[in-house]
Amino acid sequence: MEKEILRIERLSVSFSQYGRGLARRRLSAVEELSLSVYAGEIVAVVGSSGSGKSLLAHAVMGILPYNGRLEGRIWFNGEPLTQKRAAKLRGKELCLVPQNVSYLDPLMRVGEQVTGGRSSPSRRGKCKSVLAGYGLEAGVERKYPFQLSGGMIRRILISTAVMETPKLVIADEPTPGLHPEAAGRVMGHFKEIAKAGAGVLLITHDIELALLTADRVVVLYGGRMIEEAPASAFSDETKLSHPYTRALCRSMPKNWNPDGERLCDTGDILSYMRKEYGR
Ligand SMILES: Nc1ncnc2c1ncn2[C@@H]1O[C@H](COP(=O)(O)OP(=O)(O)O)[C@@H](O)[C@H]1O
Ligand SMILES: [Mg+2]
Repeated sequence: MEKEILRIERLSVSFSQYGRGLARRRLSAVEELSLSVYAGEIVAVVGSSGSGKSLLAHAVMGILPYNGRLEGRIWFNGEPLTQKRAAKLRGKELCLVPQNVSYLDPLMRVGEQVTGGRSSPSRRGKCKSVLAGYGLEAGVERKYPFQLSGGMIRRILISTAVMETPKLVIADEPTPGLHPEAAGRVMGHFKEIAKAGAGVLLITHDIELALLTADRVVVLYGGRMIEEAPASAFSDETKLSHPYTRALCRSMPKNWNPDGERLCDTGDILSYMRKEYGR
């Protein structure tokens, strides 16, 4: 059995919300979520927008917004992951490829951002080879983010994550805006990161992309985990336990009928969920 890199037990994230006057209530965004990521494994977290995927990533990284309350327990590499420990490991053993490209500092050359400002001849050398490995031209490290395309910025963000041989990489929606070929390449890079022995948590709203890359798939809906299955289960819907996941499976283009008609579309899935869960 491979080593358990990340273990999350009954993680909940909630926010307090002010109503009229002084009334205040807690708004639960992630509820009692448990999952593990083992060394060498890619686990995909799939869910529609607002299902709590980024909050899950931020909870592990220790970067939840100040008004967010975290409950439950997180272990990293066998030891409890406190806020303090997360801050120490962030950008080193524990890396996030953020959803938002604005995480890069617009006023800093990308090379400095990839080396994390800790520049030495050997780090600069490694930086150059990492950037070249992601198909970025020589000299790109001297450019500023605004001089790069969205696809190049994605690759810079991934480079930042692999500078330090991370044990866990959390990639939050790493492909939107990328050309299918570039998206395929990015997915290939995550496979390599996993093959090198790290755990990868791949967050995406795209089930097909998840199935192309992941070993296991976790499905979130409304902040709750409704399914956890090996990627192979998605080729046989009877192996999936939840009707939403089965519908998600049927909605993939490869499962459309020969006339090219969808057997089930996202609208059907959502109206089913609203009926079943009332949200
Ligand atoms: N700072 C915040 N304050 C209140 N609610 C928030 C905050 N951040 C996120 N949420 C809510 O939590 C839910 C999950 O958000 P998020 O994890 O960003 O979803 P996604 O799956 O799209 O990444 C959303 O409904 C969002 O409105
Ligand atoms: Mg998100």
